[in-house]
Amino acid sequence: MTTIAKDLSVVDKILAECGKNEGAAIPILQKAQTHFGYLPEEVMEYIAEKSDIKATQLYGVATFYKQFRFTPVGKYLIKVCHGTACHVKGAGKITQSIEEDLRIISGDTTDDNLFTLESVACLGCCSLAPVISINDKIYGNLNNESVLEVIKKYRSEMEG
Ligand code: FES
Repeated sequence: MTTIAKDLSVVDKILAECGKNEGAAIPILQKAQTHFGYLPEEVMEYIAEKSDIKATQLYGVATFYKQFRFTPVGKYLIKVCHGTACHVKGAGKITQSIEEDLRIISGDTTDDNLFTLESVACLGCCSLAPVISINDKIYGNLNNESVLEVIKKYRSEMEG
């Protein structure tokens, strides 16, 4: 696997904006993740080097909060809502159906880096339950078959 060197000057800007002490760890990590899509090891080390936050503290914060990730996401990020309304209307089956179709488990990315599957809390449109989002586009009133049609559309877009 090839690693591409990251442009770490962005991290300098983030530190200038957020501050360099432990209290700023969450906003620093959030901004870094927004920029890089995840928290690469070299970025974590660079933050530790350039700030007053120790690497162990940084990793402590980043692993505590579910919002942070250490691996890149696929081109399409599928979030399956597991909030109460969606749970009642079969979110479990939706996730299972996608897992079987993509041959990954929730939290993972397909080998071709096309899809990442996640389970999340309420997406805020419970009347459409069960709901998923793909890169922030919402799909509702799904079942374990129609959700696969949605995913198929994204796949065929890629195949052109
Ligand atoms: S519970 Fe799924 S959108 Fe609210």
